[in-house]
Amino acid sequence: MARIQVNPETCTACGTCATACPAIFMIEGKKVRTFDEEHCTLCGHCLALCPVDAINIQELDSKEFPDLPQDLSISPDTLAAFLRSRRSCRVFAAKEVPQEALERLIDMARYAPSGHNSQNFEFIVVNNREMVRTLAQRTAVFYGNLYKLLSAPGVSLPPWLQAHMRGFRLNWEYYQAGKDRIFRNAPALIVIHALAENTSSAQNCHLAMAHIMLQAHTLGLGTCINGYFTTAAERDPSIVKELEVPKENKIFTCCTVGYPVLKFRKLVQRKPPSVRWL
Ligand SMILES: Cc1cc2nc3c(=O)[nH]c(=O)nc-3n(C[C@H](O)[C@H](O)[C@H](O)COP(=O)(O)O)c2cc1C
Repeated sequence: MARIQVNPETCTACGTCATACPAIFMIEGKKVRTFDEEHCTLCGHCLALCPVDAINIQELDSKEFPDLPQDLSISPDTLAAFLRSRRSCRVFAAKEVPQEALERLIDMARYAPSGHNSQNFEFIVVNNREMVRTLAQRTAVFYGNLYKLLSAPGVSLPPWLQAHMRGFRLNWEYYQAGKDRIFRNAPALIVIHALAENTSSAQNCHLAMAHIMLQAHTLGLGTCINGYFTTAAERDPSIVKELEVPKENKIFTCCTVGYPVLKFRKLVQRKPPSVRWL
């Protein structure tokens, strides 16, 4: 439960906090307000909006609320070009990723929205090429075994699974040839996990990942989400034993990180959106 305090000396009863927050209620025309402290999610809207800094929440540190920078303008066209220019990276330079850059990615992931502001995403950063390679190898072996199992005589597969068989087989064949088709020799990997049973964990982790990928793009780093690894780790937890993911948690997503070798010259086409306007 949050402990919300208002400084009666400075509060002007403007009501901005109550307008923004469903857990704060003004009593008409008075400085008095009631707080539903039990349902405060510590989102910080009230602190960030109050024009006279009259609000204090014991669980939050007001020093973590710097003034909004004056110029936050990014033109819609610049943002559109930036979003369109983020591409998955599968060819990484030999260069390692500096620790500070990875720290920055994790730092920015925290600002993603999360259900009830739970911020329940947890990160594992593997900034170790050898360990990334080991995880890739185990993942490839998982797909090799799966491929053999599913291609045994008499096994009939639904079309969606049939469509994945080529990828499973190639993961295994690359591994046998000493190549890495899973993480593509990336120098670093970020894994995001959260409580398996929380209904918003999946969205929280994926949104945190979006922040990581976009921040990485600003730093000239390439990323690629990896579903092969996430799927394999869920089915065979021994693949990720060193990561020590708590057993009540689940890995929801991960991405490789490194410096891209290839430089795209053009933006790309996407399908027209499937949308119904009502
Ligand atoms: C949920 C998810 C899982 C993905 N898994 C993989 C993967 O295992 N291996 C891979 O190379 N790319 C993977 N990708 C990357 C997609 O292939 C890529 O986003 C898509 O082709 C569009 O290309 P772009 O990211 O360059 O725009 C994944 C992307 C998502 C969102």
